Amino acid sequence: MASTSPETSPLDRLDTSALPRHLAVIMDGNGRWAKSKGWRRVRGHEEGAESVRVVVRSCRKLGLEALTLYAFSEENWARPKAEVEALMRLLGRFLKSERQEMIDRGIRLRASGSVERLPAKTRQLLEQIMADTAQGEHMVLNLALSYGGRQELVRAARRLAVKAVAGKLSPDDIGEAELENELYTVGLPQVDLLIRTSGELRVSNFLLWQIAYAEFYFTDTYWPDFREEELAKALMAFGGRERRFGQTGEQLKGDDA
Ligand code: FPP
Repeated sequence: MASTSPETSPLDRLDTSALPRHLAVIMDGNGRWAKSKGWRRVRGHEEGAESVRVVVRSCRKLGLEALTLYAFSEENWARPKAEVEALMRLLGRFLKSERQEMIDRGIRLRASGSVERLPAKTRQLLEQIMADTAQGEHMVLNLALSYGGRQELVRAARRLAVKAVAGKLSPDDIGEAELENELYTVGLPQVDLLIRTSGELRVSNFLLWQIAYAEFYFTDTYWPDFREEELAKALMAFGGRERRFGQTGEQLKGDDA
């Protein structure tokens, strides 16, 4: 097995000129990981929180501008109460334990989603740490919490309608930039790479607008096993993609005669 000591981190092999600016991850497979070992599902979430720490640290080290993690979807509220409570507890623990490191490393915490649905204690902690890290200039860690892509687009449409009704915005002036301004992710670069773990090949209502030109990377690895080596593989694959944004390969090479 490849060593993951700091000197020989698999991330050191990456071509840093070909990294995504904004990486988004659907962290899937915590439950299956735990079940495959005969453990409770929550154990999978606990180990998944460890992967979150590793991936956040690695992305910061590599100099990515933004990392968005699908930590809790709108649909996840329908899970058994005990599991929802465990996830909220884990989130709180993560926020408390990572606060100082985020401040020290210039990581700014943001959230996407209807965070007003979170338990008051969790929401207050989240808001406190977003305020504490607001000066962070090196990377944005955007946690998608109580998030749904369709719900985000409906919210944006409503906010535009409110402005239009108030006479602050003419419907004719509504374009992509105006809609983007109403998304939770306002100010962040478009998603360049979307990773989904655990072998599922779905988008599951995640960042529907923001992934318009994203490269997709799917792996069978369960999220709790997704550490530096797996991240390096995904970033390596991204580096090898030709991103055409609707143009031809020849145009991009300046050879379109
Ligand atoms: C999907 O696995 C994962 C989630 C619904 C939650 C993600 C949460 C974490 C990674 C841990 C806590 C988060 C933070 C930010 C500290 P699943 O339960 O759907 O797995 P399964 O498909 O195998 O059942």
